Amino acid sequence: MRWPKGVSGLCYGGDYNPEQWFEDVWREDVELMRRAGVNLVNVGVFAWSRLEPEEGHYTFGWLDRVLDLLADGGVKVALATPTASPPPWFSLAYPDALPVRGDGTRLLHGSRDTYCASAPAYRAACRRIAGALAERYAGHPALALWHVHNEYGTVCHCDHAAAAFRGWLRKEYGGLDALNDAWVSAFWSQHYSAWEQIFPPRATQYLPNPGQLLDFRRFWSDELLSAYVEQRDLLREATPDVPITTNYVIGGWVPVDHARWAREVDLVAIDHYPTDAGLGAEEQTAFGADLARSWAGGKPWLLMETAPNLVYTPERMHAKEPGRMIRHSLSHVARGSRGAMFFQWRAPRGGAERYHSALVPHAGPDSRVYREAVRLGDCLSRLTEVDGAPIEASVAIAWDAASWWALQAPGMPMEVDYAAEVQAAHRALWRAGVTTDLVALTDPLPHRLLVLPAHYLLSDDAAAAIRAYVAGGGHLVATYLSGVADEHGRIRLGGYPGALRDVLGVRVEEFQPSPDGWAELVRLAGASQVRPGVTRHGYGAGVAWYISARLDDGAYQDVLTEAARGAGVAAGGVPGVEVVRRGGGWVFALNHTDQAHEIPAEGVDVLTGVAVTGVLTLPAGAYAVLRPTPDLAERRAERA
Ligand code: GAL
Repeated sequence: MRWPKGVSGLCYGGDYNPEQWFEDVWREDVELMRRAGVNLVNVGVFAWSRLEPEEGHYTFGWLDRVLDLLADGGVKVALATPTASPPPWFSLAYPDALPVRGDGTRLLHGSRDTYCASAPAYRAACRRIAGALAERYAGHPALALWHVHNEYGTVCHCDHAAAAFRGWLRKEYGGLDALNDAWVSAFWSQHYSAWEQIFPPRATQYLPNPGQLLDFRRFWSDELLSAYVEQRDLLREATPDVPITTNYVIGGWVPVDHARWAREVDLVAIDHYPTDAGLGAEEQTAFGADLARSWAGGKPWLLMETAPNLVYTPERMHAKEPGRMIRHSLSHVARGSRGAMFFQWRAPRGGAERYHSALVPHAGPDSRVYREAVRLGDCLSRLTEVDGAPIEASVAIAWDAASWWALQAPGMPMEVDYAAEVQAAHRALWRAGVTTDLVALTDPLPHRLLVLPAHYLLSDDAAAAIRAYVAGGGHLVATYLSGVADEHGRIRLGGYPGALRDVLGVRVEEFQPSPDGWAELVRLAGASQVRPGVTRHGYGAGVAWYISARLDDGAYQDVLTEAARGAGVAAGGVPGVEVVRRGGGWVFALNHTDQAHEIPAEGVDVLTGVAVTGVLTLPAGAYAVLRPTPDLAERRAERA
């Protein structure tokens, strides 16, 4: 993990699009940023057409003036390479670099993200603009971080993509025999006898091959990663002292294995937009933050974008109530983000996202949101001292992008939304007052309890690691569909869940999905039934629970609470009051409810300076961050 150069303390700011404004607005912007305590802004994310209005002709003057103004105002810059939105001239000149959908439709210019990451012309244009920016701004005092691209995720199915896919498969499998075996291509006469016969999954007559779908996603993740790495390497050569990152977007449509990408960025940065309007937004926030921390290997990371106010929900935009922006930001910081960044600084006058919220709304600085932004800046400036204290979590939930992708393939017994399954487990534990880490099964597992929600794909190695974890005294809760298939998506035979039957002490003969949800015919093979749909099995020194039916939220919370307690993890707390403990005795307490609550706690609130001795009273919507007092720290040290 490397920190934006020259930024001391937590980061605060957001996407700043000066190319949309006149110069007098820039000066007001810098003054308003200063008043709010903003210290970092993302500049140039979508400015390609203003930076290179014609091929090879650069207009850097305006950006020079913006960066100078920001530097003079004490605001650092995460300078973006604008490659997420090629200019109109590019699309006209290189039509083969426009993306093609699976159904063969070639998309045209008019929005953003309209390119094929495998097209040589696109890659060359990206290298040129990134190189030009690096050359121009390498020594600029405002430059603190390179923000490569924006939210990699756009997919293409064109012939460039096909050629690259074949190259990836050759490396992955060595020969066609291995590929045919992995894809079970004997089914429906899909046996391949030459590489040229293989294409990206495109519109076809009926169900596509699930192995091909899964590998295309894996390939595309690597293909996008190579596009990132290409830019990163040239930026790094120009400015070895400036860290480099790209902002992750999370969603079922995103073919990016973020855990793998984390090895290639200097700082994990995520964008997070809760879609729920109720308390679900807080649960989603905690989930996104815990996921980011997992990708960062437990190290600090950065919330790069979130909405200050209006957020998109499936039906309409939803306004964040007063105080909610600060509580969400504190939840991210509590869970390891080194700051809070927003999309966006100033609300635009037009364009597709004209009603998206901003720290400076259309109403201007004389507004509730900007005043709250000033308060948030003050909070964040007081929290620098917490930075670095590890998050205390003794429960882990596994997260596996490939299982998500495999479960998205059509032809499953019923549609199962992997992300929703993992979030249900996380939500149940969040409600039970238990802080969780999200983990990959290749990560170290010091946790007392490991939850595997619908972890569909398990390699032999991963299954062996789980077996060893439980045999060594770990507690496991696995839910339906975990370990049913190998890493290629081939079903493990002899009864479900093939890879975990012995640990769980069950053998499932049949899936019995119905309109009421998932259910299975489970034969006990050593385990005993705890309640309908739930079994428990002693295995070595540990315990393994199996949840074979979809439980409602309340029942799920009960089962996970019991499993957590059985593993020696304290569970409980006030519903809607989020408490996160950090090493050394730090406590973040956020009351997301509309009533006052009390929780046992002690320390000094760093936000207000008020001492808390035994009981912390949090009025509705209030928050506190408690610094341990010296005697508390001593007592903790003695206990340890
Ligand atoms: C992000 C994106 C931003 C903006 C925002 C709107 O995903 O990076 O550019 O579109 O969503 O919520």
